[in-house]
Amino acid sequence: MYYIGVDLGTSAVKLLLMEENGTITNIVSKEYPLYFPHPGWSEQKPEDWWSAVKEGLKELTEDCDKSQVAGIGFGGQMHGLVILDKDDNVIRPAILWNDGRTQEETDYLNNEIGKEKLSKYTANIAFTGFTAPKILWVKNKEPENFARIEKIMLPKDYIAYMLTGSFCTDVSDASGMLLFDVEHKCWSEEMMQICGVKASQLAKIYESYDVVGTLKPETATELGLPETVKVAAGAGDNAAAAIGTGTVGDGMCNISLGTSGTIFISSKNFGVDRNNALHSFAHADGKYHLMGCMLSAASCNKWWMEEIMQTTDFGGEQAAITDEKLGNNHVYFLPYLMGERSPHNDANARGTFIGMTMDSTRADLYQAVLEGVAFAIRDSFEVAKSLGISIQSSKICGGGAKSPLWKKIFANVLNIRLDIIESEEGPGYGGAILAAVACGAYGSVEDAASKLVKVVDSVEPDRELAARYEARYRSFAQIYPTVKDLFPKIS
Ligand code: XUL
Repeated sequence: MYYIGVDLGTSAVKLLLMEENGTITNIVSKEYPLYFPHPGWSEQKPEDWWSAVKEGLKELTEDCDKSQVAGIGFGGQMHGLVILDKDDNVIRPAILWNDGRTQEETDYLNNEIGKEKLSKYTANIAFTGFTAPKILWVKNKEPENFARIEKIMLPKDYIAYMLTGSFCTDVSDASGMLLFDVEHKCWSEEMMQICGVKASQLAKIYESYDVVGTLKPETATELGLPETVKVAAGAGDNAAAAIGTGTVGDGMCNISLGTSGTIFISSKNFGVDRNNALHSFAHADGKYHLMGCMLSAASCNKWWMEEIMQTTDFGGEQAAITDEKLGNNHVYFLPYLMGERSPHNDANARGTFIGMTMDSTRADLYQAVLEGVAFAIRDSFEVAKSLGISIQSSKICGGGAKSPLWKKIFANVLNIRLDIIESEEGPGYGGAILAAVACGAYGSVEDAASKLVKVVDSVEPDRELAARYEARYRSFAQIYPTVKDLFPKIS
């Protein structure tokens, strides 16, 4: 049988076709536009996602025996606010995870309701990208739209709704809404009241490996797939990526270098970072995880190369960053091109170069960009260490993980071994695995991941290089606290 993984990302949807034994037989990617209608705002049209998913599904299954397609599962960009009216029309473009417009609502939640209460109700505090502040923003700034809301959804759940008609979500993605009681895996009555939301406007909650429905007959016909295809709830992209890299069970770590950058630590037990710098979310394996999320990771690389250097020759530019330069760069870059989430929670933070001299080169600045992203992940890694979590190694996935240079920088900045997985398609592979579990091909997510995910290589840190990066990180860590008061004035 075949299982389809749908990775609903920020720049594109990636779909993959997986055989029951884990072999990927086809991958298709479809792009859609991303809109920045104001500085710091970030939107997409759910209708664009749906068209891209339909086109992608048709292309993906073009040459396979469609009667053998058994299930579809998701990894979806998290936190996005999708609102539908009583006729299922999308009311306004989705407000995405990296949108910073809700500072006022976030401050209201954190300061007036109070972080202590938020953390008690949901295990998390408010960040501008989370869903609840966005609901409050629509309520305050677009009351006519707020009045029309019949259903509140997350991005991948909109696709599940279009495929099956089931108004559903899963525990991992729901965790990022700030409406969900993560410990008890139910909607928080208190948060619903604070946000002016009714229970009927929120989806039914499933575990990520549960079946939420089968294809609607008309959708099955349009896609040329059997009506019996089961759709799994799926997971937020980071939890799905963790499944796709075998980051399940206790104390396992995955780093994802996509548009965002995340460090994900799985845990058998529920736990909260006492300072709420790391998110405390449910995992797609039925357990929990802690996660630090930076808003611009591989997107810093893309920005530097395509916007600033006006080239797409990533390999060529990286070749100029030779081994002897590593750990010796005196140029630093704060990678806060969309503000920053973990651990600073500062929507006003901005990208910053510092330390250039007359002899600084183009390669030094590019190196600083790549190092800045690794240092920023190290910030969240440090928070995890301060909670007594010991991380000796991590998996790594996402577009950024294709670069051997960047992986070397990460291994040495974090001073841990990085394990490379056969398939880099973290969220898509995770989505397909969740579909396979939902269809009964495997007994549990842990069972499937242990059988299907294969480590094919490792990058070990080098003792001397790691020591040089340790000193560089200490300098990096002083830059944000020194300049942060400037950001609200210049942003
Ligand atoms: C996680 C987060 C991002 C998005 C990117 O909290 O906001 O990783 O899920 O798709």
